[in-house]
Formats: sequence, C-alpha cells, structure tokens
Amino acid sequence: MSARAINGQRLYAALAALGELGAYTDERTGLVGVNRLALTAADGEGRRHVVAAMRAAGLTVTIDRIGNVYARRPGRDDGARPVMIGSHIDSVATAGRFDGCLGVLGGLEVLRTLDEAGLTTRRPLVVGFFTEEEGARFGTDMLGSAVATGRIALEDAWAIRDGAGLSVHDELERIGFIGDADPVLPAPHAYVECHIEQGPTLRAAGLELGVVTGVQGICWHALEILGKSAHAGTTPMALRADAGVAAARINVLLRDMVASGSYGADLRATMGVITPYPGLVNVVPGRATVSVDLRTPDDAALERAEADVVRAYAEIAAREHVQITHRRTARTPYVPFDQQVQALIADAASARGLSHQRIISGAGHDAQELSRLCKTAMIFVPGEYDGISHNPRELSTLAQCENGVNVLCDVVQALAEEPGP
Ligand code: GLV
Ligand code: MN
Ligand code: MN
Repeated sequence: MSARAINGQRLYAALAALGELGAYTDERTGLVGVNRLALTAADGEGRRHVVAAMRAAGLTVTIDRIGNVYARRPGRDDGARPVMIGSHIDSVATAGRFDGCLGVLGGLEVLRTLDEAGLTTRRPLVVGFFTEEEGARFGTDMLGSAVATGRIALEDAWAIRDGAGLSVHDELERIGFIGDADPVLPAPHAYVECHIEQGPTLRAAGLELGVVTGVQGICWHALEILGKSAHAGTTPMALRADAGVAAARINVLLRDMVASGSYGADLRATMGVITPYPGLVNVVPGRATVSVDLRTPDDAALERAEADVVRAYAEIAAREHVQITHRRTARTPYVPFDQQVQALIADAASARGLSHQRIISGAGHDAQELSRLCKTAMIFVPGEYDGISHNPRELSTLAQCENGVNVLCDVVQALAEEPGP
C-alpha cells in the first residue's frame, strides 16, 4: 500500500479556525490563547463547529449521555470493530490551539484524505472527542473517556460540580450536549491518538516524532484548609491560624519530597491552585483552597508519595492550628501502550524517513482510558519553545503536525485492514 499524504495546509487551517473559538488575549504578554474550559459556552461553540465539520465530511455523528462525540465512516466489512482515532477539544483556561485538537482534527483530516483517494477501509473508522479531558474545570481529568470505558459511572460523573457549584449534568444540558447514546463504548479494534508532546524532549533531540510507550501515573487532591481570619496588624503571631502558611508548607514539602530522591528520579509534584480567602493584604487568610498533583511512572513510588503527603497534611494542620481536609479527585496508574501499535507507528515513521524515538507521556490522555478496551498507542509531535503547553505560546509547526497526522493515516489504514471481528 503506497503512503498517502494528508493535506497539511487544510489541517493547519482547521486548527486555526477551531482556535478562534474561545480565543482571548493575554493581558500581560499580548499573546492570543484559547480558553475552552469543558462545558462552557466556548466549549459548546467549539463542539458545534467540529460536529458541523464531521457532518460536512459525510460522517454519521453520535453523541452520548456524557457528551462524548463520535463520527463514523463505514467500512467494507461494516460489522467489524472500528478503528478509533480521538482526543479532546476542551482546554485549560490558558491554552494554545494544539492540545487535543490535533488528534481530533487530525483524525478528520485522515478521513478526508481517504475520501479523496476513493479508499474504503475494511473496518469502519471512528473519530471521537471526549468530554472534560483536562479536568481543569470539574477537577477530574479524562472524565468522558473514563465514563466511556466504565471506570467512572455516568451518574457519578454527572454529579461532579465545578468551583461555582454547577454540575456536569446541568452544564452538559445547558450547552445542548447530553446525547441519547449509551456512554459505555463497545470495544473498538484499536485506538490511536496523535497529540503534541507538551514537553521539551523531542525538540531538544531534534526528532520529528515520538512513539509513546505509555502514560505515567497521576494522583490529584483538592484540599480545603480552614484557619481563622483576623486583622494582619493586631493579631499576635502566636494566636494565628493562618491557612496561607499551611498551604505554603505543603507546597514546599512537595518540592522537598521530589528533591529527597526517596520516590525515584521521576516524581513530579505541583501545587497549581493556591487560593487564599479573603485574599486581602491586611487580613490573615482564614481559608485556602489548594491542589496537589503528583505524577510518576513508578506505581509503588506514587502510592508511597500519596500516603506520605496525606500524613503531612495532618502534621501541618496540627502545627499551624488549622483543619485540612482533602478529596482525591483523580488517580490513574502507569498505563503501558500496545507493543504492536507502537511498532506500526515506528515503522510508518521510518518508511516516511521521519526521525523518531520511544517516549513516555508526562501528561494524561484519553488514550490511557481507551487502552483498557482495545490495543492503543499514541504519536507525539514536537513543540517549539521547549514544547511549552497549557500556555498561549504552545506551538507545533505545520510540518510537525503534518508529519504526525501522515503517520496517523498510515497506522489507521494498516489497523483497519486487519482481519478478525
Ligand atoms: C492533562 O493535560 C494533564 O493534566 O495531564
Ligand atoms: Mn491533551
Ligand atoms: Mn492538556
């Protein structure tokens, strides 16, 4: 089978058009970023835009009850299990235009390329996008794909609330994306996701692609720290119950845990949310909400790190005279990807003369959920500026995106000709 070339200009134009929806200008840098937090009006606009593009491409669109969207192209053997391509179009509040969107619009570009070549694959092909992959609004990442693969029950997912108390269910309804379909997905034959690397490795090594070996484990906590709000000038230091100081101690502890080396060389720990209340210069913070994000590919180390950080919450609470409560909002283990699909990706990259290496994913992805249902792997595309992501500077060039989606096209075609149910 000769390798088909996708239309890189068309793909890049589609990324730019979707990037207009939820676009904002960063006040400090003047850079244009994307804010399409899950189930906001901007996400609704983005969803309608992509669904329209799917329908315009002649695909049959299905929406399930958690708002996951699937577009299907029939196969020659239409009863065979489909090959699925997917990712997400929701974003963090300070995003670029590539995270997730490359996998979805890249999937659509693959189908358009096959249409133009007049080619029907044996298996049907499905391009999907999943609800709240980021977890940046409702606190649980890969939410839609976790429901689709049975890890989280629909009712539990619907009941999750954002910081303002709005539920996933009500927000899905508000933007018109509670579909009719059963969210539990029948197993596809295979799942492939093309995504930006979101880190510096490929670019620094001068490589054109990454063959993703798996995704590291992730643990998230949402904490509430309750102290006593008081006057900053009159309250003696010894009488304070300062929620801000407790938050700071936990944050420094995270850094010290990593530096200790006791959890292996790969532990990453971040406090991304640190919100003191009332947040005024002359008031001791009586309350703080903070987050903890722990990651490593070493499952045993992640378990120990989580246990140790929970113990530290109690110690810091006692020392600072505050109460600390935590909720575990996300926990996924190290997920290895399928060796055969990795080999197909590596072979396709080699056949196209693209330099590549195996790489583990530092970020979470819908692919890790789908890997419970079917053989799965991912293609990583390098990014400029040290692969910065979750930031308006996020940038992969047209050539970088084109390389990734060309390989996606090859791999999907190969998988779609495989025999069997
Ligand atoms: C998703 O982008 C993550 O936090 O890994
Ligand atoms: Mn992503
Ligand atoms: Mn992301």
